[in-house]
Amino acid sequence: MMLVICPILLMLGHLQEVAAGAACRISEFPCRNGKCIRLNGYCDGRDDCGDLSDEPMYCTACNRTYYGDVGKTYELRVVKALDARLPFLCHLTFTANGQSHGDIVQLIFDEFKLGRYESNALDGCPDGYMQLSELGRPFTGGSWCGSSSGPAAYYSETSTVTVSVKLFASPQLPFAFRLRYRFVSRKEAVVRFGSPSSPLERGQVAPGTYCTRQFEECYRKPCRLQSPNYPGMYPRNVSCYWSLKQKFVPTCKHAMIAVRQEAAHKMHMKRSINVAGLNKTARALRAWRDCTGERDHLIFYDGGSTDDPVLAKYCGGDWLPRVVSRGPEMLVAFHSSPYSVPLHSPPSQSPLKGFELDVDIIFADSDSLDFARHRHKCEFDINATSPESDEIWTGRGRKGRLISPKHSLPPNTTCTYRFRGYEGDIVWVSFTSYNQRPLLIGESGHALLGNSSFGGGCLTRLRIWDNRTLIEDKCDEPPLLCDHSALSNSTRATRPCTNDESYISANNNLIVQHHTEDGTALHPASFKIKYEFVDTRLGGEAWPDKRNSGPCHRVFKRHHVGEITGPRNVFLFGRGGTKDIHCIYRFEAGNNERVQLTINNASFGVNPSCETTTDLHSGRHTCEYYAGGNVAEFSIYEVPWPDTHMPKGCVCDNSTLTSKPLVFRSSSKTLELHFKAKDMKITEDYTVLHFHALFELVKISDCPRYQRLRGDGGEVQFAFPPADKTETLCLGLPWLVEARHNKSLFLLSWGAFLSLKPRPDEPTRCPTTNRILVYSGKPPKLVRAICPAEPGSRPLAVHVFSEEWRGEGLTHLVQRPPQFVVEWIGLEPAMAAFNWLEISRSRHSLLTQLQVPVNTSANDTELECSHKCPELDACISPLLWCDGKDNCPSGYDEAEAQCGATSKLLNSLPLAALAAGFAVFASMFLLICLTVHRLRARRRRKLAKKKLDMGPGLLDPGINS
Ligand SMILES: *[C@@H]1O[C@H](CO)[C@@H](O)[C@H](O)[C@H]1NC(C)=O
Ligand SMILES: *[C@@H]1O[C@H](CO)[C@@H](O)[C@H](O)[C@H]1NC(C)=O
Ligand SMILES: *[C@@H]1O[C@H](CO)[C@@H](O)[C@H](O)[C@H]1NC(C)=O
Ligand SMILES: *[C@@H]1O[C@H](CO)[C@@H](O)[C@H](O)[C@H]1NC(C)=O
Repeated sequence: MMLVICPILLMLGHLQEVAAGAACRISEFPCRNGKCIRLNGYCDGRDDCGDLSDEPMYCTACNRTYYGDVGKTYELRVVKALDARLPFLCHLTFTANGQSHGDIVQLIFDEFKLGRYESNALDGCPDGYMQLSELGRPFTGGSWCGSSSGPAAYYSETSTVTVSVKLFASPQLPFAFRLRYRFVSRKEAVVRFGSPSSPLERGQVAPGTYCTRQFEECYRKPCRLQSPNYPGMYPRNVSCYWSLKQKFVPTCKHAMIAVRQEAAHKMHMKRSINVAGLNKTARALRAWRDCTGERDHLIFYDGGSTDDPVLAKYCGGDWLPRVVSRGPEMLVAFHSSPYSVPLHSPPSQSPLKGFELDVDIIFADSDSLDFARHRHKCEFDINATSPESDEIWTGRGRKGRLISPKHSLPPNTTCTYRFRGYEGDIVWVSFTSYNQRPLLIGESGHALLGNSSFGGGCLTRLRIWDNRTLIEDKCDEPPLLCDHSALSNSTRATRPCTNDESYISANNNLIVQHHTEDGTALHPASFKIKYEFVDTRLGGEAWPDKRNSGPCHRVFKRHHVGEITGPRNVFLFGRGGTKDIHCIYRFEAGNNERVQLTINNASFGVNPSCETTTDLHSGRHTCEYYAGGNVAEFSIYEVPWPDTHMPKGCVCDNSTLTSKPLVFRSSSKTLELHFKAKDMKITEDYTVLHFHALFELVKISDCPRYQRLRGDGGEVQFAFPPADKTETLCLGLPWLVEARHNKSLFLLSWGAFLSLKPRPDEPTRCPTTNRILVYSGKPPKLVRAICPAEPGSRPLAVHVFSEEWRGEGLTHLVQRPPQFVVEWIGLEPAMAAFNWLEISRSRHSLLTQLQVPVNTSANDTELECSHKCPELDACISPLLWCDGKDNCPSGYDEAEAQCGATSKLLNSLPLAALAAGFAVFASMFLLICLTVHRLRARRRRKLAKKKLDMGPGLLDPGINS
């Protein structure tokens, strides 16, 4: 209904002016005597003109139009004669006439007593009311009545406003009506329009409506949703629809619209709020079912129409929490009730009335999980990318962070996050934050009646399923939290989330469901999640020996070719909370097969504290750690016998394999790769600790000989090039000599001992690159490196005793018997050999060694053994005595004196020199005299040749193929 009454009144005003002569301005009343007085001087009870022409009989201030000048304040009082006819009707029209007469009208109702106000009645103003109407705006029909306890301000939206006072009930009712009015220029009205330099965007009023406005592209300009007639009291019985739309959206972005007001002085609705038990510092608000018909309220729709879901219904409070639409459109509806007492401001409060809401446009990445993609479904798929994809190294697609929707959710909404991993994946989810902030809301401020079955009586409910098993169900309580990790950023890592701080699925599927009963606009609930798909696959088969197994020990035996990478299970690394990792990959070939391994690349951390060097004896890669460096390496072991692991190479820096891959072919059927790191940092995982290798089983006949020896003693010969087919097939395979229970071992060879770890710059005293390497212990440790010489030459004889022989206690007697592993490094044509003897102590020397006083009177034969190499002070097997071979280094066992045959003892060593039982080598090594220069030249030549000759060992793939 449109009732436009102003034009009539305006005409009245003009007629008066024409009659009164042109000497006075429009804002002045022309006295009959020619004087000009203010328009409100007319009928104010004072003789302003001096000739009483402004105070005629029966005059009234009603039914007149008032103009004025900017910067002046005018007062007006409506008096009702006691005998006035009822209904009493009075129109006051105020017009801001532009320029110095102002652009808008400000009214301040200083005194307002107008019948009764009945807040709960159908007709709230039974005795009479005041109505306001503006030129060019539809008449709203809303009314004010009752008694205001203080001044209330009104600012017109247009240039002309008419105040209509109507009273129908008995004249005895209290009536008082006094106001001030001012004319304000537009540029002065900065609270409404903004400063001239940065005007506020208030939208355009839709034709035919009082206050419906459209806002577009608010990302460029400061859009404000203002209550009608802001910053004064708003009219009664209005409905405003503010539609907000963001049309421009950058590519790959998604736009959402946020509306909020944090400042208390900009948020005044009809009722001040008084929730029981709240003190002044608490910020309470009224919402949802509290917003009954007589309360002014705001409704926020999640879309452009009133059919869209309601995000919030708000009807009071000194702030408005942020309400955010899901998409680029939002509709905000404002309704004021038909009746009210004029809102007044207590002197302590801001004089502003009504409210003003700020608008923000939020852009999210269109592929992010920050918003729900579908209109009516809050569902998210988090699909892992393939663990094989290159993205694994960057971590993208396999791990990430997500936050609860950035937009508000309507009541009774459940958001579902489905984490889908690949076969073999498990899902690791940690909540880095979880908030549910119950705002101060009255008992009835909830969105829904009763409890919906889904929420189970909870305002927020969080449930987590591992496949179909419910593993978490929290009602208004936080889940397991890993909040310290919220402090991590690109430069700071925080310690890994533990089992007690996160959720780990047993399957490749995990579902997180978050339900909000009241919606998140007025009952905020939000969370942040860190997730990761963890690839638990290791390749190969489980380790057969459960007792000696580790979390990543694997066996490969069925496939002839294959690929292996380091583990990609973050829980095995520092970033997953583990300090040390040790993975063993064992390759088992069948009969007449060998294992060939090609290691293409490897990484041992960002800054490995180790260098891969070449062992000068064997030519193999070894790992040299800097002082205090952390272990991170992989090493290759040959396993000729299940209890013997021969180290064949170790790599620990990131540069060794960059130029060319490392190819290794086994000499036996079993090969092991050990991948090891200790004291890993909390940042380290498979992206910096990894390797990639190919394995292949190649057809080569087995070594027909069993190179593991036990017994009384014997002789082993080496030759390069291999003497026959057997030697060729057994090349690279070590010899193992082991003693029986209670026995010790003695090795005799020819040549000279070299330092175990020669420095590269140290001149070697050895004229050949061939070596005999002697290992002992478990795992085998190099104990002797021998520069081999022609076998049999007695001055060059070198002796090696098993460790316990020297008298380091008799521990070996209860532990395992001693053993030696002897390896031949044959690189240039030569012959070499070693003899071995199982030896034992005579009781006499045993007792001496143990420092037991020997009873000299005891029978000598009881304490001594019958067959003894005197130079070694060791008993040997009687079977070796006079067997035609020298077994004692001196050949004593074959001496004429013993055997009666022709003694082969040519050059018996002085026994005294050996009495101490030490391994002694010929100090006067004849070959030392060779010049260093010649040695080096020769060595260089040999090294070049070595690569071709090596056979089993480290092969260059180019040459090998
Ligand atoms: C003002 O005008 C209306 C008619 O428009 C009339 O009914 C009313 O009595 C007038 N009021 C006064 C106080 O003269
Ligand atoms: C007001 O309430 C808040 C919390 O409800 C409390 O922390 C604060 O101390 C209270 N202030 C006064 C003045 O009572
Ligand atoms: C995730 O996988 C499911 C099932 O395979 C599929 O239906 C869905 O479309 C995928 N989602 C995305 C975002 O790739
Ligand atoms: C809440 O949502 C569920 C599922 O969408 C629906 O079945 C239920 O009726 C809703 N409850 C209320 C009170 O709207």
